[in-house]
Amino acid sequence: MWIINGLKVLMVCYGHGHRIMTRQKMMKKNLSPVFIIPVHMAGVPANLGPLLTLAQEHGLYFIEDACQAVGGSYQGRPLGSFGEVGAFSLNFYKIIGTGEGGAAITSDRGIYDRIRMHHDTGVSFWGSDMPADTPVIPGVNYRMSELLGAFALVQLGRLDGFVENMRAIKKRVYGMLEGTPRPAPQNDPDGDCGTTLHFQFDSVDQATRFEERLREQGVSATRPINTGRHVYSNWEFVINKTNICDQGCSWDCPRYQGTATYAPDMCPNTLDILARTVGVSTDPFWTADQVNTLVDKVETAAQGK
Ligand SMILES: Cc1ncc(COP(=O)(O)O)c(C=O)c1O
Repeated sequence: MWIINGLKVLMVCYGHGHRIMTRQKMMKKNLSPVFIIPVHMAGVPANLGPLLTLAQEHGLYFIEDACQAVGGSYQGRPLGSFGEVGAFSLNFYKIIGTGEGGAAITSDRGIYDRIRMHHDTGVSFWGSDMPADTPVIPGVNYRMSELLGAFALVQLGRLDGFVENMRAIKKRVYGMLEGTPRPAPQNDPDGDCGTTLHFQFDSVDQATRFEERLREQGVSATRPINTGRHVYSNWEFVINKTNICDQGCSWDCPRYQGTATYAPDMCPNTLDILARTVGVSTDPFWTADQVNTLVDKVETAAQGK
């Protein structure tokens, strides 16, 4: 959506959270960022502290993608509530689902009206509670039906219980591990949604063997490097600077003066970490016995038995 709307993406490589970009570096690269979009992947809160500082220092909008982390928090505050906008997905694969749909939150009246007009073009015709001087923008009509809204309200009531259970499972599994495999670092274990266990290894070989041994025991394990377009190097439309039409469109926009360049290997540290990590999804309905069995399997896989 960003690219269709003429915006350029600047990737921030994992592990560089504390030294993202200074203003001098931005100026040197002729970049003039407008907003930062932290993405809370796999239920794990992003390291928001340094990103918020950067946004404040440079007057950047802060838009949180909490689509995979509905119900999570960072330092006690709900994910999605830190900046101007928070986005949540309710599609089939997410922590709570309504089949399709999602939600965006903001405390800014102007942004609220733009979000409404964007997702429902009818608002600019019929939105009687919209201030008369609100500039009208075109929309895309991504309305969710009221029936799905009703599902969402019921699902919302189950959310805290799901997250509490999965968070507790994650803490238990991590707490039971001794030595190898190591739990991947977490930015806030108390705010983590617990949807995914991440095990980290020193080498890609070790991680691959561990993943295979878990699978042999019937545990569905995946290395994040193999999750297709979740990994930036597979965003061919960014790497190749293409768009929905074949003429470059937003990338060739004469108003864009920046020099953003992309390459599949531009964030080698990110790719290395994703390849050395093995993920296993949790389930809020797992019993204590099921968790113990999983820990046994994890240990067996780690020992190569
Ligand atoms: C991180 C992230 N952002 C955005 C989305 C888009 O959400 P939706 O499918 O509800 O449009 C998804 C999920 O598909 C996601 O995982």
